[in-house]
Amino acid sequence: MAKVVTGGVAHWESVHGRWDPAVASWYEPDPVMSLQVLDELGVGTGEAVIDVGAGASGIAAALLDRGFYDVTALDISMAALQKARERLGPRADEVRWIEADLLAWTPPRQFQVWHDRAVFHFLTEQRQRRRYRELLADALPSGAALVMATFAADGPAQCSGLPVQRWDAAALIAELGPRWDVRVCRRAEHHTPAGAIQPFVYVGARRP
Ligand SMILES: C[S@@+](CC[C@H](N)C(=O)[O-])C[C@H]1O[C@@H](n2cnc3c(N)ncnc32)[C@H](O)[C@@H]1O
Repeated sequence: MAKVVTGGVAHWESVHGRWDPAVASWYEPDPVMSLQVLDELGVGTGEAVIDVGAGASGIAAALLDRGFYDVTALDISMAALQKARERLGPRADEVRWIEADLLAWTPPRQFQVWHDRAVFHFLTEQRQRRRYRELLADALPSGAALVMATFAADGPAQCSGLPVQRWDAAALIAELGPRWDVRVCRRAEHHTPAGAIQPFVYVGARRP
């Protein structure tokens, strides 16, 4: 199968190699909205979580702080994962790290929670989103929780210099397919480190 990457390894290694995570446009000091949606979905600390396209996000640390003990972070970039490990310090060993192109990856196990902030919106082609839906079907059992955050319909047209597909909540839910019990739809304004405002849409769902 041809690789279906989103910018490619070289792009993301260059981005993460060049930039301090705290100056990237998508950086948020605390993953407040993600945690809120997880709470609204009733996700418990015993549920296995995967954060796809994790970058150096603070969600792994926030989950460990809350008592989660089965946390996996996946990213296409080794530099991103290295920075994420540094951010966590000694607690890095409590997280499973996977360096992989999500769309060319075969989940080795199932997870109860799938978290994606600012990755799905890079999938501008139907075949990429089809592959993503296959991954969700393989990786998540019945009852699993899904948290998706993408640029909203009036969000920026690019992220990290790459074109993105912007979504309103209804279109995003339709794109995920019919097999979701959608419980949370939320718009959020992300304030970038440079002071710009980026509208996001958050969707929280359970797999029936
Ligand atoms: C916009 S950043 C968001 C990072 C993080 N989720 C956050 O909210 O801070 C997108 C991340 O997805 C990763 N990424 C892009 N394409 C990917 C792919 N095909 N497979 C895995 N990770 C990918 C990038 O390396 C980058 O860390």
